[in-house]
Amino acid sequence: MFHLICSFIGSPMLVLQSVSVHVEGGTMGGLHCLLLLSFHLIAPLPSLAGRIPAVIVFGDSTVDAGNNNYVATIAKADFPPYGRDFPGGRATGRFCNGRLATDFISEALGLPPSIPAYLDPAYTIEDFARGVCFASAATGFDTATSDFLSVIPLWKEVEFFKEYRQRLTAYVGKKKAAYIVREAVYIVSIGTNDFIENYYSPLGRRRWEFTVEEYVDFIVGLARDFFRDIYRLGARKISFTGLSPFGCLPSERATNQETKGACVEEYNRVAKEFNGKLEAAMQRLCEELPGIKLRFAPLYDLFLDATQNPSRYGFESSSRGCCGTGKFETSITCNEWTPFTCEDADKFAFWDSIHPSERFYRFFANQTLSTSLAEFI
Ligand SMILES: *[C@@H]1O[C@H](CO)[C@@H](O)[C@H](O)[C@H]1NC(C)=O
Repeated sequence: MFHLICSFIGSPMLVLQSVSVHVEGGTMGGLHCLLLLSFHLIAPLPSLAGRIPAVIVFGDSTVDAGNNNYVATIAKADFPPYGRDFPGGRATGRFCNGRLATDFISEALGLPPSIPAYLDPAYTIEDFARGVCFASAATGFDTATSDFLSVIPLWKEVEFFKEYRQRLTAYVGKKKAAYIVREAVYIVSIGTNDFIENYYSPLGRRRWEFTVEEYVDFIVGLARDFFRDIYRLGARKISFTGLSPFGCLPSERATNQETKGACVEEYNRVAKEFNGKLEAAMQRLCEELPGIKLRFAPLYDLFLDATQNPSRYGFESSSRGCCGTGKFETSITCNEWTPFTCEDADKFAFWDSIHPSERFYRFFANQTLSTSLAEFI
């Protein structure tokens, strides 16, 4: 067993920290480290993981920990079989059989094993000081998207964040609150609904207003405004989960007009185009906003590979979700009385026709930790 003793350069006070040696010195930025062969020499001190005070989450159903339970909408998942593999078998409102990628990330950073929903009255600012989720299922960058199912628009998630900062300041004081806001990791996962629920929906009006290229640019513009907003409020270490190849979601494959069961190529092309444009916009923001670390979490290729080669990932199926027939069921149509729900969700890349299974989310968490988050921790 090795330990590292580290001191912050230029700090008036020597700060000692012990960390397990699998954390590479290279990720530690301004720390100078000395390898000690015996850990008996130093008392146990907080691990490196303790350097991230909180994980703060914005987005849609891919990261909603249960905020929609407290919103008058049909986009909910607070009933069985949702949550059947969550600790206690609880349907928390997560659109999954178990935990989400953000929960695994929190745990890996030495923070709680699940991130609480901001609107859940069971939690207080004491809990939220270590991680909080503002996300809302069925929302998007575009307010026309959140309007469809009357969920929380992204601007409102930002309002909650403002309120959170005030509550945090009242709870831990100005200095500590500023520290938490600055050093927290922000995970943003949103955008798919702008396309599947809005632009490509027969009920959507955006299709009459924009070509798809124009709509991509419009959404990229909204994303840029959002990143500027949370930067102004103090966010610095931000990871954006780009769009997945949403043409390969079981629901989209099942309704593919051209080849039933195949991925919808146009959707995947749009997702790729969006990711490329957004990544370029994020790079420009990094030049514009001093101190911001805005990083893209590249999940597109992993997602596509897992849906095309499920057995490589230990999945038996990726063309349908575990719940019901897995082709159409999601939210209220995936319930206790839905027939054909699978026994073991670990064998499925998708839990319902739109949302990844817990096991698929573990892959996303690992990928995010080793890419966009690697330099924050
Ligand atoms: C994710 O990483 C953890 C820790 O390295 C590992 O134990 C786990 O098997 C990985 N999970 C997946 C699904 O890759």
